[in-house]
Amino acid sequence: MKDVNLGVLLINTDFKLIDISDMACTIFGMEKEEVIDKSLDEIFKSVPREYQLVQRTILEGMVTKNHAVSLINETQRYELLMDSNTLKNSSGDTVGAYIILKDVSNLRSLEEQVQRSDRLAMIGQIAAGTAHEIRNPLTSIKGFLQVIKKSLKENEMNQEFEFTNIMLTEIDRINGLVSEFLLLSKPRDFVFEQVDLTKVMQEIKPIIHNEAILHDVEVHYHPANDLPFILANKELIKQVCLNICKNGIEAMVDGGTLSITEKIDEKNKQVSIEIHDTGPGIPSFLVDKIFDPFFTTKQEGTGLGLSVCQRIIHDIGGTIRVSSKGFGTTFIISMPLPAG
Ligand SMILES: Nc1ncnc2c1ncn2[C@@H]1O[C@H](COP(=O)(O)OP(=O)(O)O)[C@@H](O)[C@H]1O
Ligand SMILES: [Mg+2]
Repeated sequence: MKDVNLGVLLINTDFKLIDISDMACTIFGMEKEEVIDKSLDEIFKSVPREYQLVQRTILEGMVTKNHAVSLINETQRYELLMDSNTLKNSSGDTVGAYIILKDVSNLRSLEEQVQRSDRLAMIGQIAAGTAHEIRNPLTSIKGFLQVIKKSLKENEMNQEFEFTNIMLTEIDRINGLVSEFLLLSKPRDFVFEQVDLTKVMQEIKPIIHNEAILHDVEVHYHPANDLPFILANKELIKQVCLNICKNGIEAMVDGGTLSITEKIDEKNKQVSIEIHDTGPGIPSFLVDKIFDPFFTTKQEGTGLGLSVCQRIIHDIGGTIRVSSKGFGTTFIISMPLPAG
């Protein structure tokens, strides 16, 4: 009863608690000495009868199996599965009953994660369907516009010529948005290759520096020596690192420092890139939302950046974690090393 990793309660025919496991005490938030030999009516007297987990009817043979219950004590919320049945002696008389509680809180949160990624997959499918429908007409609009632009120039219609330039930039913007959309859908031609993360970072460094200068941000880059290859798609990994660095830079409105650190975690067989900014941080009530598609706090934001990143990293079996405690934010991208 002491070490058993289950909530166990044994009661006798008087509805008194005979024994209780340590875990059950933790779940109910009570001390064993205070409750043993007491009637369950008394122990749970503050709980209205209809909400009491254990009813007298179990002594009358009411059996439960995998009955899901949620329970909140002072410190924690538990998702439990409850089994209960009567205990009989060798001649078949009821001598009491048992209740077993299995803590499935972790499974529940896993379930929520699955639902979340299901939702993302659905959005991805819709995106894949509509993105091409948007892109094809755009291509022909762009083509004809370039023809018009040329003749406007030849006819010296300067103002109209300027308009076409604006139109072309706007079309490029829609195209960019549609590209992000397409990344949300699972890329069908996803080619796995050996990717050298340090090289990826070298290639995107100029882009990050440009962005940083615009925002008066300093960039510190700490590469790791001999970072092993990972199996992924180079272009997609670039996109992930760029998105997260850009977010960091955009968050630092009054300037600041962006630090990028590569790490090898031999024990867990993974490599990680930590991207830290000295911005205002993310309020805790928003942390769960930032990976949702279309969630943005920016005027010009799409809210697609992080959901795209998460999709890409999940597809290679990695994780993106975020830690933001009041000041500054760190995104940790962990990616598994190939086996062997
Ligand atoms: N480093 C960061 N610091 C503070 N907030 C951040 C940071 N990164 C992301 N966020 C928040 O997450 C939101 C979603 O980011 P993202 O998916 O990239 O979309 P977008 O950049 O278009 O808003 C941002 O609008 C911002 O509120
Ligand atoms: Mg972004």
